[in-house]
Amino acid sequence: MLSADFAVFNVDQLITMAPAAHPAASGPLGIVERGALAAQNGKIVWLGPMDDFHDNVRLDANATAINPHGRVVLPGFVDPHTHPIFAGSRVNDFYRRALGERYQEQLQSGGIMETVRATRAASEDALIDAGFCRAEGFLCNGTTTIEAKTGYGLTGEDEAKSLRALTRLQRLTPLKIVPAFLGGHVVPADFAGDGDAYVARLIEEWLPQAKDMASIVDVWADDGAFSEEQSRRILGAARDLGFALTAHANELGPHGGARMAAELGALSVDHAVYLDDRDIAALAKSGTVAVLLPATTLFLGSDTYAPARRLLDAGVRVALGTDYNPGTSFTQNMQLVLSLAVLKLGMSAEEVLRAATINAAAAVGMEDRVGSLEVGKFCDLSIFTVDDYRSIPYHLGANLVDTVVAGGGVVVQDGKTVLLSAPRA
Ligand code: NIG
Ligand code: FE
Repeated sequence: MLSADFAVFNVDQLITMAPAAHPAASGPLGIVERGALAAQNGKIVWLGPMDDFHDNVRLDANATAINPHGRVVLPGFVDPHTHPIFAGSRVNDFYRRALGERYQEQLQSGGIMETVRATRAASEDALIDAGFCRAEGFLCNGTTTIEAKTGYGLTGEDEAKSLRALTRLQRLTPLKIVPAFLGGHVVPADFAGDGDAYVARLIEEWLPQAKDMASIVDVWADDGAFSEEQSRRILGAARDLGFALTAHANELGPHGGARMAAELGALSVDHAVYLDDRDIAALAKSGTVAVLLPATTLFLGSDTYAPARRLLDAGVRVALGTDYNPGTSFTQNMQLVLSLAVLKLGMSAEEVLRAATINAAAAVGMEDRVGSLEVGKFCDLSIFTVDDYRSIPYHLGANLVDTVVAGGGVVVQDGKTVLLSAPRA
């Protein structure tokens, strides 16, 4: 008999994302109909059909038990690409693009540098306070793990401040945060015209200092950001220091960055909009996850979406993310991203749900801990107010999340966060 301090009963569809999780789990999503799940100390200890629960699990006297009859339960979403450490707003960019201004023009005039100025001026505590509210936003939308990038400091001290903010934020919020160092976001105005000097400084000074605070190093490989050669220098140095790698690549046009990152063994290549057959073959060969961000394409007013079907047909593992940031994708709602992936990327309900959970976990190096409901993994799950998973992407722009559990504790109830700790209090 297993003891448990948390349980969910009578779930219409317990979607494990792990066909091998239980003999009763069926199909590519490993669905247990009328299922139940139990956890102890934050980790899943048992799951299976409700009828088998009491033969296997004894609940502690003070256990939490939820009985969400008529609901779908999914692993908490893993959002593998977010930029939540920033100050200021880019609301003006948004409306100017609607009038025809292009994002590439905004990069020259203000764009990211506007956010960089505001972020440099903000204190570490202010970044944490804003980050705490944003963490609640992710949780309310059913996301329990994010990969969180720096990249709006772009000096040694301001990037370190952003990394410290992420480290301290992790102690305040039950949202799991995978910190990624994006000192290689763009060449800041203070180094205008001398990208190579910026790259050298980043490699010599800032990468080593990021080692204790970030697990992943990111670079933006695109025209207007870093060249293939500069990106290779940054990622190569990061690899030598023991970081996992990722890249924003081929977002705005064809570039050597996507293939280069795949060849260096990056966990993921993100955006991946403008890819040729060789790029796709390189991603398939290296097992690099393509993290697709259709909300960004929509927000930029572009009609060119990532070639999801070509990637899937070539055997590339595809994940989905929000790209939450003030400039190009101001949404924290993975459910909206799932709808866009069906509508604009031609993906099926099963493909989008795997892309937002287990494949996204792989994209951030967390596949052994989150992204599916399996014994031994974290008890991170969301309960949706529908009785069929195919209804989730079908609702456009809604938030169907009723309850969220992170580490075996209820963190969102009736759609609102249950405060576990307060910022800096
Ligand atoms: O993922 N592509 C680069 N970086 C962000 C945009 C950042 C910004 O515009 O503030 C992105 O789209
Ligand atoms: Fe991004």
